[in-house]
Amino acid sequence: MTYEKSWPEASLSSRQDYTNTSVVIIGAGIGGMCIAIDLMKRNNCQDFVILEQSAGIGGTWHDNTYPGCAVDLQSIVYSYSFAQNSDWSRDFPGQKEILSYLTRVAQEYKLYEHIRFGSTAEVATWDDELKKWKTNVTVAKGSKEAEASSNYTISSDFFVSAVGQLSQPKWPEIEGMDGFTGKSMHSARWDWTYDLKDKRIAVIGSGCSAVQIIPELAKVAKKVSVFQRTPHWIAPRGDFEISTLRKTLYRYFPFVQRYWRRRYMGINEAEHASNNFPNHEENKKLTQVAIDMMHEQLPNQPEMWEKLTPKYPLGCKRVVVSDAFYPALNHPNVELETRAIHSISDHTVRVVGTSGQPEDVESQYDLIVYATGFRASEFLYPMKIYGRNGRALHELWKDGARAYLGTCADDMPNFGIVLGPNTGLLHNSFILIIEAQSRYINGLIKPVLEARKQGGALSLRPRPEKTEEYNVKLQNLLQNFAANDVRCTSWYKTESGRITNLWPGLVLEYQQLMEKVNYGDYESEGSSTSIVQKRPSYKVGRVVEEAGVLEKLSLTNIAVAVLGGFLVRRLIALI
Ligand SMILES: Cc1cc2nc3c(=O)[nH]c(=O)nc-3n(C[C@H](O)[C@H](O)[C@H](O)COP(=O)(O)OP(=O)(O)OC[C@H]3O[C@@H](n4cnc5c(N)ncnc54)[C@H](O)[C@@H]3O)c2cc1C
Ligand SMILES: NC(=O)c1ccc[n+]([C@@H]2O[C@H](COP(=O)([O-])OP(=O)(O)OC[C@H]3O[C@@H](n4cnc5c(N)ncnc54)[C@H](OP(=O)(O)O)[C@@H]3O)[C@@H](O)[C@H]2O)c1
Ligand SMILES: *[C@@H]1O[C@H](CO)[C@@H](O)[C@H](O)[C@H]1NC(C)=O
Ligand SMILES: *[C@@H]1O[C@H](CO)[C@@H](O)[C@H](O)[C@H]1NC(C)=O
Repeated sequence: MTYEKSWPEASLSSRQDYTNTSVVIIGAGIGGMCIAIDLMKRNNCQDFVILEQSAGIGGTWHDNTYPGCAVDLQSIVYSYSFAQNSDWSRDFPGQKEILSYLTRVAQEYKLYEHIRFGSTAEVATWDDELKKWKTNVTVAKGSKEAEASSNYTISSDFFVSAVGQLSQPKWPEIEGMDGFTGKSMHSARWDWTYDLKDKRIAVIGSGCSAVQIIPELAKVAKKVSVFQRTPHWIAPRGDFEISTLRKTLYRYFPFVQRYWRRRYMGINEAEHASNNFPNHEENKKLTQVAIDMMHEQLPNQPEMWEKLTPKYPLGCKRVVVSDAFYPALNHPNVELETRAIHSISDHTVRVVGTSGQPEDVESQYDLIVYATGFRASEFLYPMKIYGRNGRALHELWKDGARAYLGTCADDMPNFGIVLGPNTGLLHNSFILIIEAQSRYINGLIKPVLEARKQGGALSLRPRPEKTEEYNVKLQNLLQNFAANDVRCTSWYKTESGRITNLWPGLVLEYQQLMEKVNYGDYESEGSSTSIVQKRPSYKVGRVVEEAGVLEKLSLTNIAVAVLGGFLVRRLIALI
């Protein structure tokens, strides 16, 4: 790698300019890392700082260490296109393996020298006169760094939020929960110093996290009570170990791995309809697959089927994949509780009994696991962002977040959001979206850096009419989505029912939308506006890896084609 070309700003390692940089990135998860790598690759820029609240990289995969935590789609797709790994042990690897993959990527691209750990961005304020962002940072209390300075402000030309959608745990509000005298933990803040053996455990929630945790707890705990408010549709997982032969092929013949990545891309993209459109034939098929698995894994238990079968169409929430959850419910020490939770106190969880009276489920719980999800629709929470004229982002978004291309917000100049509003997927890997956004954001950063190099300034913010037009289109497309069904709630929509977390189309459609930056879609200001006037658009390109004809063929087709070709050649040779 050569990113050695000269850059006029002081290099970070000199620490001369600790509070002044070109680009500030918030978050060192998959999103923040991708932005940083593209800054070096596509903008030849080394002058950036990543602020990370935790003590490590990885975001989601740093935070979620709960027992059973794993990815729910193929690792070959849930990885960077530019950093394929030939060593995945399984098709759906666990958290540790993903984190160590991400650590290797961070090392390879020398990201560590740019990351300030234990550093929380609290507030970012746009200075219209200087055309710069000022980010107020708090340094982790009790750290040595905080002894040097506990808080400071860093100034930058561009601000990128890569704080993820699923980073802030959501704790429910249950009467008396603070009075619980046992141990409480959220799935995303697992306390591994706590010994689970022979404990009586209540698990609140039945989403992806809960479904991964419960089978693991069942193996060691004395008792596990599953408090399910709403059942989820659960489909077979079909994970498998990756053979040595396959790993070897991937390592020495990378095109084989590329072929399989494209192929899985195609398979996942084909799941778009089944996951999103309730009346689609594919949706009905997948629903039947889910029901069949439940009946098979919980044989002859119609009362359980009744409790576990959702009353809303599949796709309304993310389809959970698990081969282990229903079998765990067969375990003698596991019970499913579907009555509403009434209250919690000392070691007790009470539910609303049949006559409406509170009823103890168990009065000796040692542990409550809150697998209750994240504050996903409050984008960027709790960070505060003030743009042009002091406009607060949370005010702008009080009726539900909306952005231009899921990436830029009105009145927020030189500002990009990774996994912003309406970029979530039910059917494919988030990393595909992240990479498309990262290229695009870097396309916006490019002229801003050029302006800085010239000693000028440039600010770009989306034209409000563009944002409006884009969002009207989006919301229209989302009308017929399963997630829009009145019978379901999920983290994809706000309390008022506006879907703010789903991208309606295929990944390919998003990639195509993002492959070119039209600077004309942006209001430009500053002494260097001529840069974008001279160059109205910039092609950032995209990762082209959708399944082609070859990848759509089955192996048998390919074998037949190869054999056919061979026979034809023999035939020609004979003539
Ligand atoms: C348990 C779990 C499993 C998942 N499995 C899948 C899957 O199988 N497939 C899939 O496609 N997606 C999955 N996801 C979604 C996953 O979140 C994304 O795929 C991806 O990891 C998001 O990366 P990110 O960098 O955008 O955000 P994150 O990984 O959330 O990283 C954000 C980072 O920002 C930091 N941060 C936040 N606020 C601040 C602040 N104010 N100052 C400083 N730092 C801050 C956080 O500490 C964190 O490190 C899963 C999510 C969870 C929670
Ligand atoms: N790779 C994976 O397999 C994987 C694993 C974990 C997470 N994820 C990702 O992370 C997202 C979040 O998953 P998650 O499971 O952590 O959260 P989630 O899907 O939001 O599920 C939260 C669960 O908690 C329940 N709950 C919330 N508040 C409650 C209350 N007050 N009382 C009772 N129950 C309550 C919810 O019930 P209701 O449904 O009734 O609201 C739901 O069952 C997923 O959608 C997925 O994208 C992926
Ligand atoms: C910020 O740092 C200053 C010293 O530089 C200190 O006086 C102040 O209390 C700190 N503020 C907070 C909120 O920690
Ligand atoms: C940010 O920090 C600066 C000092 O560095 C302070 O003057 C300013 O009030 C802070 N802004 C906010 C919104 O807290």
